Amino acid sequence: MRRKMVAGNWKMHGTGASVAELTRSLKAFDFPTNVDVAVFPPSLYIGQVVEALNGTAISVGAQNVARQAEQGPLTGEIAASQLADAGCTLALVGHSERRQVLGESDEELCLKFAAAQQVGLVPVLCVGETLAEREAGNTLGVVARQLNSIVDALGIEVFHKAVVAYEPVWAIGTGLTASPAQAQEVHAAIRAQLAAKNAEVAQNVRLLYGGSVKAANAAELFNMPDIDGGLIGGASLNADDFGAICRAAGN
Ligand code: PGA
Repeated sequence: MRRKMVAGNWKMHGTGASVAELTRSLKAFDFPTNVDVAVFPPSLYIGQVVEALNGTAISVGAQNVARQAEQGPLTGEIAASQLADAGCTLALVGHSERRQVLGESDEELCLKFAAAQQVGLVPVLCVGETLAEREAGNTLGVVARQLNSIVDALGIEVFHKAVVAYEPVWAIGTGLTASPAQAQEVHAAIRAQLAAKNAEVAQNVRLLYGGSVKAANAAELFNMPDIDGGLIGGASLNADDFGAICRAAGN
């Protein structure tokens, strides 16, 4: 049985004061014990969040990671080893905002994925199609290409210690959610693609859905056989909303 996971991606939101308030509420929340809960604060606040959530079961991750694992001359970036040193255990790789807005390529993301794993951070690889790609019937092709760029370069075994998040770009922050059937179709295809290389890896890897997940739609998504939890943006900025989504995953 795969353990469910719910991760909150805070994106570029928060101030020292609002982060203190959010972590205080998270600390007080009674999260289900059968779900792995994680938050991804802006890197500026990682230390603050790690400290505030110390003693809870909530993991802390980074929204981005440098393409190299160790410290060095790379202005503005944060090495995977530094993130680990700060208390992170996870790192998002290839969120669509970084692919689409910041132009990160599959090749660049492959370096980041490897750098994260090199120091023991669990990469959460985000994949997903744009609306134009879906309308052109290319959804499965796009997702397969994004996944294959990692598998071909690093091997299938890297997914023993990774998570995949399927996030259709048209559903992120738009209020449009993929229907449970639409999401399940892509999750099943991802698992089948991995299973063709290694059945055990495919069986065990967690596949999260992301894109306008809310307390109201979380349960029906998480009940699908290949959806193992969620990557939550907007709704993760409110501890009660985020907590309700975690409870939906635990039921
Ligand atoms: P959303 O974002 O829940 O606000 O749609 C999800 C994400 O981008 O990870």
